[in-house]
Amino acid sequence: MSRKKILVTGGAGFIGGNFVQYMVDKYPQYDIYNLDLLTYAGDLTKHKHIETKDNYYFVKADIAERETIMALFEKEKFEYVVHFAAESHVDRSITDPGIFVQTNVLGTQILLDAARAVEVTKFVHVSTDEVYGELDFDPSTFFTEETPLQPNSPYSASKASSDLLVRAYHETYGLPVSITRCSNNYGPYHFPEKLIPLTISRVLNEQKVPVYGDGKNIRDWLHVNDHCAAINLVMHEGVNGEVYNVGGHNEKTNLEVVKTIIKTLGKSEELIEFVKDRLGHDKRYAIDPTKLENLGWKPTYTFETGIAQTIQWYLDNTEWWEQIISGDYQKYFDKQYTVNK
Ligand SMILES: NC(=O)c1ccc[n+]([C@@H]2O[C@H](COP(=O)([O-])OP(=O)(O)OC[C@H]3O[C@@H](n4cnc5c(N)ncnc54)[C@H](O)[C@@H]3O)[C@@H](O)[C@H]2O)c1
Repeated sequence: MSRKKILVTGGAGFIGGNFVQYMVDKYPQYDIYNLDLLTYAGDLTKHKHIETKDNYYFVKADIAERETIMALFEKEKFEYVVHFAAESHVDRSITDPGIFVQTNVLGTQILLDAARAVEVTKFVHVSTDEVYGELDFDPSTFFTEETPLQPNSPYSASKASSDLLVRAYHETYGLPVSITRCSNNYGPYHFPEKLIPLTISRVLNEQKVPVYGDGKNIRDWLHVNDHCAAINLVMHEGVNGEVYNVGGHNEKTNLEVVKTIIKTLGKSEELIEFVKDRLGHDKRYAIDPTKLENLGWKPTYTFETGIAQTIQWYLDNTEWWEQIISGDYQKYFDKQYTVNK
């Protein structure tokens, strides 16, 4: 296989970070460039073991800074772009929507211009099922690629806007793009503000676990390694201009997820604390992944095997998440969940 130069944006974050490691290990013959601004969500310590590899490079940059991005593409002439970089937390988008438009919409548009200027072979835009809005509790309904976009939060609205720009660059300029829309991810290196790592870290510390509303909101969980494999497949085989939904049919209520973690760690359900519901909290997400399965993908984890692996990973890597939940993050946690009570 020939050598390829691949730019991964947001490769210091949760999914981008797992993807960078997946690609560096799987393809020694590809050069993997990790571009990240290192916001609160970015962390390079996770890449210690690949930093010395010949096929890994790191670039600190803001995707919303046009001149920097255009100059980098001009210099490196990337063949592939896999775009993860984003503001990704719904709660933060409710308190401060502006940065979501700046990074997720403007940043994506600048990357599209840069990709166009150097005529990339493929631009993979990593999006989310949240752009489809919400489903009701009827278990026979799923999001397909034809479901209309009806984003409900500033986060999902900014992602939907970026999806439309990516589509438009294909339709208008013929840019070779594919869009992936994945359900909720979990797994190693997940920032502890999201439900699963938040629950694991708080249960381990015998702290109360906040659950929004009545805990009945349903999410469709996918292990991050299965998401990485899906993106790799779309990068190599995805049809230009197409959207692919990514999900593994693992629907669970938030309360079921929290109870599973508490049970696995042998703690008491008395740790659960119901807090005032999130504004505009979507009821249910569920993905129909048939189109991606027809391209050759299938998940390797069930929710049960994946959550067991993830809990074990957090037990084995306490140092990583303990450094994160100290300092500024603690202030954010106190504000978010105390005000909402
Ligand atoms: N987490 C999920 O469950 C999920 C599900 C489906 C899709 N997605 C999408 O996958 C992508 C990655 O999600 P994640 O959970 O890994 O997010 P994350 O918040 O963990 O990581 C985002 C990364 O982007 C970087 N970043 C932010 N602003 C930047 C900027 N202006 N320039 C350069 N880098 C910047 C951050 O430093 C961080 O490293 C996002 O686009 C998200 O919408 C996430």
